[in-house]
Amino acid sequence: MPEEIVILDFGSQYTQVIARRVRECNVFSTILPFDTPAAQVAARRPKGIILSGGPSSVYAADAPLPDKGIFKLGLPMLGVCYGVQVFAHFLGGRVEKCGKREYGKGTLTVTDRACALFRKLPDRLQVWNSHGDKITQLPRDFRSVGTTENSDFAAIESRERNLFGIQFHPEVAHTPRGREIISNFVHGVCGCGKEWTMRGYVDQAVDEIRAQVGGGRVILGLSGGVDSSVAAALLHKAIGDQLTCIFVNNGLLRAREAEVVQEVFGRHFHIQLQYEDASRMFLSRLKGVTLPERKRKIIGRTFIEVFQAATKRAGKARFLAQGTLYPDVIESVPIAGNPAALIKSHHNVGGLPRKMKFQLVEPLKCLFKDEVRLLGQELGLPDEIIYRQPFPGPGLAVRILGEVTPKRCEILRNADAIVVQEMKQTGWYYKVWQSFAVLLPVRSVGVMGDERTYEDTIAVRVVESQDGMTADWVKLPYELLEKLSNRIVNEVQGVNRCVFDITSKPPGTIEWE
Ligand code: XMP
Repeated sequence: MPEEIVILDFGSQYTQVIARRVRECNVFSTILPFDTPAAQVAARRPKGIILSGGPSSVYAADAPLPDKGIFKLGLPMLGVCYGVQVFAHFLGGRVEKCGKREYGKGTLTVTDRACALFRKLPDRLQVWNSHGDKITQLPRDFRSVGTTENSDFAAIESRERNLFGIQFHPEVAHTPRGREIISNFVHGVCGCGKEWTMRGYVDQAVDEIRAQVGGGRVILGLSGGVDSSVAAALLHKAIGDQLTCIFVNNGLLRAREAEVVQEVFGRHFHIQLQYEDASRMFLSRLKGVTLPERKRKIIGRTFIEVFQAATKRAGKARFLAQGTLYPDVIESVPIAGNPAALIKSHHNVGGLPRKMKFQLVEPLKCLFKDEVRLLGQELGLPDEIIYRQPFPGPGLAVRILGEVTPKRCEILRNADAIVVQEMKQTGWYYKVWQSFAVLLPVRSVGVMGDERTYEDTIAVRVVESQDGMTADWVKLPYELLEKLSNRIVNEVQGVNRCVFDITSKPPGTIEWE
């Protein structure tokens, strides 16, 4: 196991960001619930512990508090925001409500240059605050090492015990030198090396996969998305032909999707790929269906049916692999008012029935999305796959409002291909979360040449987002919008109008259905 920093999660929406920052220092990090027993923390043999921020007040009746045994482990600790108040609570300090809630940018003045957290950093640092409580009396053996406009104890330390507390958030972009503070903690204080690299991870994961599956056979549902693709490449490296990938064409894929997957995985990687063309079955079941929820249900059920039959044809397999990522496995902390708890996706459509008696193999389950991309690069996957935007499981069906017919799929596919092409050509594709076309059930009048037309409408949707839970529409340059509209209306038969969606989420959703 690589050297590890444990992060105890007190419910801050930034806990995952702390974990990523630590990993960006090439140190492995794990998020555990705030009340994880000290013995369990110790068993992981971490090099240090970070206490995250959180929305509570340490003196509230239902405040989340850690097992106080963690203070006896003798490990270096860094308390961030709420985390530093936890120190005060357990180690004899005092926390009180701020007269004025400190929120937003502030300036930290480092008052003790010898503090290890601020090594090689200037005396004054821009920091970002978000707290309503602050320390008014230092815990035993602690000293102030930094102040802000509103706090004499913005950074504190107990040098002898290797305990550090900072009232601001070093993990967010608004604390520009925050990464260096975290690096000083994990390298300088905890003594971690820089072991966590993708090359190292490949070797470790390959060993683990081999140890788990032995000579058994593994099945993986390949969607062509980044996660399942990287999982496929990694598993293939580990177990070669013991892996069979099943790719289901549901007739609702983007242009050239099926070809790209077959090309990359079949011909390039020589992965055993079972291609299931079930497009007719899906489309015939969707005939006449216009209600979004019904469409989703039909697609979900049909997928399970097709996949189950395909696994039988693939032969006896004991293992089912999934491209589950770390954010999907972290338990969200059940704390009142905890915004992070909302992050659980509402889309993970049911999954496969339990009666399919497989053991799960989840080789990406300790990685974040950006790490999965790095891993994909390490494994030699083409950029076309690695930098793919998310695509919903029910595919084009949730972007065709009204009935899904082969003809309407074709119209949307052609319009969507233009959006993807132009976005890629201008580099915008890689800067946004998603960019796609939607086919509306609205016809309008137009003129083309001398003829009057009465045809369909395409909406173009382009959003930026961190995780899909909230999103903003992207202010694309007019020239690009103009090109998209011109090409879609001129080149896609059956479309004579193009509109641009300027709705953010909330109150809108990213997909139209
Ligand atoms: P909404 O439309 O809820 O979408 O704002 C948020 C993100 O989730 C994707 N999405 C799905 N992903 N299966 C998926 O795997 C689905 O059924 C599904 N529906 C929406 C959507 O593309 C966006 O990135």
